Amino acid sequence: MELVIKKDALNKLKTELYVVCLYKGEGLPAELAGLDQYFDVARVLKAGDFCGKTSERFMLYPNDSKAGIQRLLLLGLGDRERFALKTVTTAFGGLSIWLKNQHYKAVAIEMPELDEQGPEAVSVAVTMARSLRTGNWEFEHYRSKPKTSSLKTIVVRAGEKPAKELVAALKRGDTIGRGVNVARDLGTHPGNTATPEYLAKTALSFASGKTSKIKVKVMGEAQLKKMGAGGILAVGQGSAQESKLIALEYRCGKRNARKLAVIGKGITFDSGGISLKPGAKMEDMKYDMCGAAAVLGVFSVINEIQPDVDVFGVIPAAENLPDGTSYKPGDIIELLCGKKVEIINTDAEGRLLLCDALTYAERTYKPDAMMDFATLTGAVLIALGHVMSAVVGNDPGMVEAVVEAGASSGDTCWPLPMSEEYRDMIKSRIADICNSTNDRQAGTITAGAFLNEAVSEETPWAHVDIAGTAWVPKKSGYVTGATGVGVHMVYDLLENFAANFAE
Ligand code: BES
Ligand code: MN
Ligand code: ZN
Repeated sequence: MELVIKKDALNKLKTELYVVCLYKGEGLPAELAGLDQYFDVARVLKAGDFCGKTSERFMLYPNDSKAGIQRLLLLGLGDRERFALKTVTTAFGGLSIWLKNQHYKAVAIEMPELDEQGPEAVSVAVTMARSLRTGNWEFEHYRSKPKTSSLKTIVVRAGEKPAKELVAALKRGDTIGRGVNVARDLGTHPGNTATPEYLAKTALSFASGKTSKIKVKVMGEAQLKKMGAGGILAVGQGSAQESKLIALEYRCGKRNARKLAVIGKGITFDSGGISLKPGAKMEDMKYDMCGAAAVLGVFSVINEIQPDVDVFGVIPAAENLPDGTSYKPGDIIELLCGKKVEIINTDAEGRLLLCDALTYAERTYKPDAMMDFATLTGAVLIALGHVMSAVVGNDPGMVEAVVEAGASSGDTCWPLPMSEEYRDMIKSRIADICNSTNDRQAGTITAGAFLNEAVSEETPWAHVDIAGTAWVPKKSGYVTGATGVGVHMVYDLLENFAANFAE
């Protein structure tokens, strides 16, 4: 599907379907009053057949077969005063899913009419294009007869003379949406496809092509051993799949650019290991690489977005399985940072391999800031459900930056505290730290505190626990399964990061 931005005057518009947005209890926006000639919108409203609730849809046909617009679809945006970016996601994401299952080839959508007080036009345009793109996502890799959609083109109209910024914003949203879809693909592929090696190959594919500004390095177990990455090696040692550390570099080419490292947990399947998980819903643990998927989603489109920041992606990838060779409770291992860890529970594996990746990122790139995405704890689901990610860090400014980017992108997150008492909870009696506490208290925070052990105080860092937001078990909003969380957030963060530095 192609998303194009067009500027034809309304009376010249020819399309199979034209979508216009209406707020609850309101008629057509003044600029679209010309539609009255062919479509009796007032009658529909008067009859009460359409009220404008968010995502509500109603189809009208023209009273004249010569009309260039063959169908008019009213799309509800809810109350004007409550219009928010979330409304955009719900309405246009839902619309895009619906369109995918109709027989139209090309449709046109008018950007909503906006108020001064509401979200800015540029943000609405980014979110609108992203939602149209992600709603169009299909995953047909494992069906003997893949479903196809007839929809080839969505034309977005941003008034008769769209401003440059709006056109750029729609492009940006479309591109980010494609990145989100890459992350959703990776998350949805089963564990026997999306292995550590598959993640590595995906990363390498982004570095090919003459114009790519991406460099990729993949380290296997021999190199990890030499390096001393005991966390990654321990987690993967019971699996037939070789563990990998995948490093991606994007250099923007600007002198003195700021540097951000983004780390993503890449457990391609988490059985729990010797501390085996219960069988029910264990299949969902294929999603345990959604942190890695977010990083790869970001890099899949970074050559197009071209942020003015150097970005480094680091993915520790492994499979956590029980075997005679697996690491086990009671073992003591040494992380890349030199700290010794007593293993209490082999199911608390993410923090072990993430620590090594954080150390690697900090030592190799000396970034100005670091963040990581990880499906790290079940506890975050208890705290925040599938609605928001949790964020903790060693620097209030960095946590704040992540929360802000979360809000603007729709990948919302909420901060949790990180004080000395929580750090004390992961002390071991006989080693430096242990990988799990004996009770389930403050599970998300203690996991964050563990990661913090690998990060030096000088590097601002934030950890985002996406165990609840990376995938949703049943339809929530307009998504089911892998959500691609994190991709849009990183791009908003990068934009703020570059802007703040320029000041
Ligand atoms: N990958 C899981 C966390 C998870 C749980 C992700 C549910 C998505 C949905 C992680 O490796 C894990 O098993 N965490 C344990 C930690 C505990 C043993 C300290 C957990 O949360 O139960
Ligand atoms: Mn686990
Ligand atoms: Zn896990």
